[in-house]
Amino acid sequence: MESSGGNVESLESVPAARRAPISSAGGFAAAKAAGTKIVMVTAYDAWTARLLADSPVDCLLVGDSAMMVVHGEKDTLGATPELMALHTRAVARGAGAKFIVSDMPFLSARKGEAHALDCASALLRAGAHAVKIEGARGHVHVIRHLVESGIPVMGHLGLTPQWVRGLGGFRVQARDQAAAKALMEDALDLEKAGVCALVLECIPQALARDVSQALEIPTIGIGAGSGCDGQVLVLQDLLGLSPDFRPRFSRPFADGASLFQGGAAAFAEAVREGSFPSEKESF
Ligand code: KIV
Repeated sequence: MESSGGNVESLESVPAARRAPISSAGGFAAAKAAGTKIVMVTAYDAWTARLLADSPVDCLLVGDSAMMVVHGEKDTLGATPELMALHTRAVARGAGAKFIVSDMPFLSARKGEAHALDCASALLRAGAHAVKIEGARGHVHVIRHLVESGIPVMGHLGLTPQWVRGLGGFRVQARDQAAAKALMEDALDLEKAGVCALVLECIPQALARDVSQALEIPTIGIGAGSGCDGQVLVLQDLLGLSPDFRPRFSRPFADGASLFQGGAAAFAEAVREGSFPSEKESF
């Protein structure tokens, strides 16, 4: 990090409030080395990104969860490279200096290196700084190829929603010893392949802590306990915008549903009683 005098300071000597937000893939490991928890939230559109640009979150994830929370589908399988690029472009228009990670959609890492490169480059051209790829087994070489091609990649293990049909639902993963060992091996393989950080979704917290301690890159948990090096939540969940969906691992940090519905009700009332629009609001 550059001090105001142009000298290089070590991250440890920089007070937390003055630390630069994550501005490159290397910023993830630097945050972990400095003991700074990483905060990531999802965003799918420009106006949300614009609001989050002025918040203290570190990075925005254009998740393929867009299929569920924006498009109302039951899972993420319908996401395509084109749709992810469209959402990414919108987020990039509002995100200011925030680091943007975009999800590579269903099967996009399973059709070989050339297909993955096409998809990842479309997301980077749309404004992403890194792509996130679910799973490891069978496509670690593809991830390594992207990293060696200059594309920062974030990993994602545990409950990988693109595998939902094979997993038989959205369930906590790696509960038994064999599955926990396999997940640890996958995490180490991903680190070796060069991923900049690793999302751990819905796994026992003891395993997430062990994985976090075994890796130099940070883990970013969702439903993986407090031992991770950061946390990610879906924006609609953390804002309390999905009152019918309250997963155990999430927490509404605002009552967004009441805010929305209250605003709409106040508008309807003002129209019906004739107080909106006023003279000042008319031409
Ligand atoms: O798509 C998404 O929003 C995600 C997060 C839940 C990590 O992958």
